[in-house]
Parts: sequence; structure tokens; C-alpha cells
Amino acid sequence: MQIVRSSEELARARAALDGTLALVPTMGALHAGHIALVEEATRRASRAAATIFVNPAQFGPNEDLARYPRREGEDARMLENAGCDLLWMPSVQDIYPEGFSTSVHVAGVSKRWEGEARPGHFDGVATVVAKLLLSVRPDVALFGEKDFQQLAVIRRMAEDLAIAVKIVAVPTVREEDGLALSSRNAYLSDDERRRAVALPRALEYARGAILDGTPVSIVLDTARKSLVEAGFSRIDYFALVDAATLEPLDAAKGDMRLIAAAVIGTTRLIDNLAI
Ligand code: PAJ
Repeated sequence: MQIVRSSEELARARAALDGTLALVPTMGALHAGHIALVEEATRRASRAAATIFVNPAQFGPNEDLARYPRREGEDARMLENAGCDLLWMPSVQDIYPEGFSTSVHVAGVSKRWEGEARPGHFDGVATVVAKLLLSVRPDVALFGEKDFQQLAVIRRMAEDLAIAVKIVAVPTVREEDGLALSSRNAYLSDDERRRAVALPRALEYARGAILDGTPVSIVLDTARKSLVEAGFSRIDYFALVDAATLEPLDAAKGDMRLIAAAVIGTTRLIDNLAI
């Protein structure tokens, strides 16, 4: 696996790659969820590339940018073992050089949920992903369903800007007890980790109850209560939404998704489930 840092090095390495290319953008601190994306990338194209860039533009002023876990050496080893051919690890200067003034704002699908809880977050995501896609020019780019709204924002952005890339979604990889893998799980104490499983359990409960015909508002209230009882201190949202528009649904209808974000201790966890 070739490792490049500056945009110039990337351009040279990209030009030397033949065949089709699949890209997996990440912020590092890799786990089996990221690796599932890389493995899918190796199946989708003749070459696989990844990026590691902890993107300051998508963190709010009171968020965890400074403490976001960084493990370059181990990440590179994991990527190489998964069959990645090229790793781009740009600096903040490479992505946002002096004078950088552009922001990509995706209206509509980015408005609610994470967009409301984390103002500016999706502008940061859309801007950096647009720049990564335009710099690497992959044929395919892979994103996890774990960040379901992010996936919708990126699909919209790539289509609106006519970026010639196929966006592929990869199902969420979970721990044995159901907790979705996340780089942020590293922040959880042992006790919080045990309690955190209430989040996927609440989603599973809600899916079952909705499929059984229980009124949606009762299901969502019960699910939220179960999170509070498990020790979550704040629930940003626990909602049933239209899977395409992310608009809230008050009754079961069409292609639906349950989405949730909640805080335990000092850690904010998000998860979602198809119905
Ligand atoms: P990061 O949180 O590092 O995630 C990188 C990719 O891995 C995203 O597409 C995310 O959805 C996926 N992923 C994370 N956990 C997963 C899991 N348990 N199962 C499957 N896929 C999982 O998301 C970002 O970085 C950034 O916002 C980024 C898109 C790189 C832009 O900065």
C-alpha cells in the first residue's frame, strides 16, 4: 500500500493507478466497520483507496476535535491487511490552504436531526467529501449506513454537483451485543459501555412494535424512556423517518428508518435501523 500526504503526491499516485478505483473516506481510529467498507471497495473496483483526515470543519466549537482518537500506524496496517492500495493522509493545510473560502451546503435532507443538533456539521462533511472526491476521482465511493443522514447528504451533493462517482452504502457493523462500532465508543467507561447497548435495543424494540401495529408516538415515547432508564442523560432525537427524505413520520408508511442520537456520560452516540 502506498501512503501519500500532500495533494501533489496524491495526484502523482492517482495518475499511476490503472483500472477502476473505489474510495473509502474516513477520519481514522479504524475499526471493523471501516474495514468492511474497504473490503467492499476491493470487490467493487480493481483498486481500493482510503483517506484519513480528521476534518476540523465538521466539528462544532464544543465538540471532540481535540480528543478525537488518532492512530495512524495501526490504521495503516489495518488498511494494508484489508487490501487497500493507496492511503491519502492530508494535513489540514493540504485540504484547507490559506485563502480557502468555499463551503458546500446541501439543503433539505441536512436540515433536521444531526443538522439541528450539530449546526454546520453537514456543511463541513459535504465540503470535505466533495474535495476528497474531486481530488481522488474514484469510480465508486463507499459510506456506512451507520451515518444514515450523512449518506443521504453525500448522495444528494454528488448528484447535484454532477460528480461522476457511484455512491455505495454498506450496512452497519455491530458488536456482538448490538452496539454499532464507532471510533467514539473508545470514550465510554466500562459501565457506560454496558449501558450503551440500550440504544440498539431501543431501536430493535421500536422496529418490532411498529411492525406489530403499535401507534408510532407510543413506540417512540417508550423507546426514549428506556434510554433514560438505562442512564442516557440526553436524547437529541429518536424518530421514525422517511428513508429517502429523512422527514419525520407519525405513522408507518413506505420505506422507513428509525434514527436516534443520545448522550451517555460525555459521549454522543448515533444509530439507526431499517424497518
Ligand atoms: P468516520 O466516522 O471515520 O467514518 C468513515 C466511514 O465509515 C463512514 O462512511 C461511516 O458511515 C462508516 N462507518 C463508521 N462506523 C461504521 C460501522 N459500525 N459500520 C459500517 N460503517 C461504519 O464519517 C466520517 O468518518 C466522516 O464524516 C467523513 C465521511 C470521512 C468525512 O469527513
